[in-house]
Amino acid sequence: MKRRKILVTSALPYANGDIHLGHMLEAIQTDIWVRLQKLRGHDCVYVCADDAHGTAIMLSAEQQGISSEQLIDAASIEHQRDYADFLIQFDNYHSTHSEENRELSESIYEKLNANGHIHRRKIKQLYDPEKNLFLADRYIVGTCPKCHTENQYGDNCEACGSTYSPTELIDSRSVISGATPVEKESEHFFFALPAFRDMLKIWTRSGTLHDAVANKVSEWLDDGLREWDISRDAPYFGFEIPGEPGKYFYVWVDAPIGYMASFKVLCERSDYHFDDYWYPGHDTELYHFIGKDIINFHTLFWPAMLTSAGYRTPTAVFVHGFLTVDGTKMSKSRGTFINARTYLQHLNPEYLRYYLAAKLSSGIDDLDLNLDDFVRRVNSDLVGKVVNIASRCAGFIAKGFDGMLSKQLDDEELIAEMLASKTEITELFERREYSKAIRLIMEQADKANQYINDKQPWIIAKADKHSRELQEICSTGLNAFRLLISYLKPVLPATVEKAEQFLAIDPLQWDDIEKPLLNHKINQFTPLLTRVEIDKVQAMVDASRQEYEMQQGNSAAKPAANSSGLEPEIELDDFAKIDLRVAKIIDAEIVEGADKLLKLSLDLGLDPQGEPLTRTVFSGIKSAYEPATLVGMYTVVVANLKPRKMKFGLSEGMILAAGPGGKDIWLLEPHSGAAAGMRIT
Ligand code: MSP
Ligand code: ZN
Repeated sequence: MKRRKILVTSALPYANGDIHLGHMLEAIQTDIWVRLQKLRGHDCVYVCADDAHGTAIMLSAEQQGISSEQLIDAASIEHQRDYADFLIQFDNYHSTHSEENRELSESIYEKLNANGHIHRRKIKQLYDPEKNLFLADRYIVGTCPKCHTENQYGDNCEACGSTYSPTELIDSRSVISGATPVEKESEHFFFALPAFRDMLKIWTRSGTLHDAVANKVSEWLDDGLREWDISRDAPYFGFEIPGEPGKYFYVWVDAPIGYMASFKVLCERSDYHFDDYWYPGHDTELYHFIGKDIINFHTLFWPAMLTSAGYRTPTAVFVHGFLTVDGTKMSKSRGTFINARTYLQHLNPEYLRYYLAAKLSSGIDDLDLNLDDFVRRVNSDLVGKVVNIASRCAGFIAKGFDGMLSKQLDDEELIAEMLASKTEITELFERREYSKAIRLIMEQADKANQYINDKQPWIIAKADKHSRELQEICSTGLNAFRLLISYLKPVLPATVEKAEQFLAIDPLQWDDIEKPLLNHKINQFTPLLTRVEIDKVQAMVDASRQEYEMQQGNSAAKPAANSSGLEPEIELDDFAKIDLRVAKIIDAEIVEGADKLLKLSLDLGLDPQGEPLTRTVFSGIKSAYEPATLVGMYTVVVANLKPRKMKFGLSEGMILAAGPGGKDIWLLEPHSGAAAGMRIT
């Protein structure tokens, strides 16, 4: 057999988000394929990285009060942990924010530029004058110019579906600052994509893409390609374009180059040669696994850039559809937007690996994780069919034969039949028709179970637990089991490892199952995989919903500011609800353990019954006032504010003050004729 040299990637997840089950679909699809190639003895490596650049990451870090570097470092650790716990076996995991990637990005850009494939021209764009930032469409909201629905994003209306330029939005504002965007001109750099039309027409039809994908791409090719804007102005978290201060590579330029950078790091600590995999003329294969939302980047821009820079193009780009849960798009409020970590806190990762494998194909249709079906399928196939064969046979071999398998099989034909499907199973995995491969494997499992049912070893054991027939039947059953786990090894690496220990065999390879396991001592059987419990699935959904609700709680306090940067307008009636009174400060004390607070006792005059009305209020004015100087002063207080329990006691109102802080805080002091209790209107 020729040993293939294969380099495989999954799309690089953005650093500003958790890994969720949608990402996992991609990683699991890729990992199964890579494991298959490795088991077959091919030289296959799998690299990935975090996609660490872009405005979204910069803003997200800013919001959290940390640097972009801190954000991406933390994300990288979490992402890698999530993948590892789903048994995704990367040969290297890197980051696009790395020196390797910077060097490669710069050198590719320079080649493109030298070839005349970089054009510059000035464009007008909306700009946030407060944040000093050019605004991408999704950072602009306003009222739809067609149907007048408010709060529509950038360039299309969710209500009426019309598309427009963000400049056409009515009352548009920046999502970031609330400011009204202004049009501003700036020079951008464009990649001359149209120059690659002929090359792409050939490349996309040369077995690189599934027909459904190639058809989509040829629509774009036929519509005419436009030059691709590859620069962004500062401030931007990314790589500065060499020799162009203030201009940065658009994140999608250096993202795919991150595949190369990650592989380069692997080369530095192994015997792999970078050039063998990235320059034309070598006998190596390069595959990218991606989701259907990023087809254009991988089938137009990327092969064109590689070509211009003198690199090879991918052997194929494998595109999958989106994961839905219970028939609809993953939804945070329903709890079906499930993070990898949340899943892992409740369920075994191999359940998901199996379920997805049982439904994946090479096409781009979406794949539904139906939670009831998930429970049923995993329990009936893995526990009910596969593990069951071992548990039905193992006990008799242990009790009657001290763990020894027979010297010959009771039914060689069964085993031969099961072996005969191996070529087809291999072929189906290779073509990423996993669901068909799984169906074929389960047909073999059904045959094996049927065989045990027919032979009824438990009846034989009752008569004679040492009978040779019993040993040969159970040994046949266990050999059938061995074939099944061998076929399932790319999908269920951990369970299969346990099964190998039970069978007391070396790690299974794809090609060492032809010879049956005979006259061989096996170990005690321990349950290899337990049933999925529906309660745990429900607990996972509940936990996902709670995570979302907690997040909402944290950020709900501030509704979007309006165009003047102020809180949303209130009605006069709202204001009239506020009962403002003149209060006389009768006592002011330092609060033990509080840096900023003073405890004030206020006299609000008399209540309608003629009783003295007093309030205790904690106020953060310690930096500006000596407590003693406050006594006897008049100030304004919100008298009907709901009492609030604070760490130091109950606060029964709020006094009004103004100023930037520190020493500069001034109490609002009513004029000298005011008396405690006077209402301010
Ligand atoms: N950073 C880019 C990819 C750069 S590759 C040079 C990106 N990141 S992503 O985090 O949004 O998505 C990463 C991958 O996950 C993409 O292939 C995307 O299609 C896939 N998925 C994201 N959500 C998904 C589902 N719900 N279902 C299946 N895959 C999905 O795009
Ligand atoms: Zn509209």
